[in-house]
Amino acid sequence: MKPKVFVTMEIPQSGISLLKQTCLVTVSKKKRVLTRKELLAGVKGTDALLCLLTDKIDEDIMKAAKNLKVIANYAVGFDNIDVKAATKLKIPVTNTPGVLTDAVADHACALMLSIARRIVESDKFVRAGKYKGWEPMLLLGGDLKGKTLGILGLGRIGSAVAERMGKGFGMKIAYYDLNRNAEFEASLGATYLTVPELLQNSDYVSVHVPLLPTTRHLISTKEFATMKKTAYLINTSRGPVIDEKALAAALKKKQIAGAALDVFENEPKLAPGLAKLDNIVLTPHTASATIATRSAMSEIAAQNILDALARQKPRNTVNLEIYQQQ
Ligand code: DGY
Repeated sequence: MKPKVFVTMEIPQSGISLLKQTCLVTVSKKKRVLTRKELLAGVKGTDALLCLLTDKIDEDIMKAAKNLKVIANYAVGFDNIDVKAATKLKIPVTNTPGVLTDAVADHACALMLSIARRIVESDKFVRAGKYKGWEPMLLLGGDLKGKTLGILGLGRIGSAVAERMGKGFGMKIAYYDLNRNAEFEASLGATYLTVPELLQNSDYVSVHVPLLPTTRHLISTKEFATMKKTAYLINTSRGPVIDEKALAAALKKKQIAGAALDVFENEPKLAPGLAKLDNIVLTPHTASATIATRSAMSEIAAQNILDALARQKPRNTVNLEIYQQQ
């Protein structure tokens, strides 16, 4: 009998086709995030779950799928999954690292340029018919060359952003990560700083840390007070890393110059007042949304499932401990 795979929302076909070669695949037809009840019903009897970052996968969901052999998240971040519970139940959890690095890094840079050069504000201005001719003081923004870009979290994406902005735009790079990286420091002339030092000294701060208990509200009221008045904050990681209410307040009183966000604390909701501000650029969690990237994510998620169903260690397992326990 073919193993069953449940996919919680339509994803690019390439991964689905791969799965269909050997599995019975059910893709939810609802074009929205499943309710808990729908998710519980969907996973019943399934051997593999291909889920999204918007699906909350807890122990009850895992237990509702008695034969569950793998949880393949269609994302690099996996804070939506109770990995501890999966580990206890010896279910591998997988993600899709690597293939989205360039797309997300490009998007972070696009956000940085957009907020610094007031692209969205300018576009609205022109469309509204307010452009009456060239003016010396019209829509002045911030520079990039020679400014300090502080990278919070030097994983694949953080490094790729630093590389682009350091080498391409002549920015000075500072970074914080749990681990220092001598090779990175040498190649970009980057400076290692603590989080408070990085916030105080950066002209741009780009956030690339995973969402963990230790990174939730890493930047809040106290931190905004220490940042430069001319600083810009960019977030393409996970919304709750920034206290969004505190950000709205900081932007409103011009405590920092601007922010550009692809992720939000309570997606898809925004903190009150945020969307009314001019000194912010907002995109709907689309940093990895290129055709090629989303297809590659689909294939990797499918491969992870096929590995697990073949009783092999999936190539992108995040809870490798389950194999060490055996
Ligand atoms: C991820 O993969 O974690 C991104 O947030 C979406 O692609």
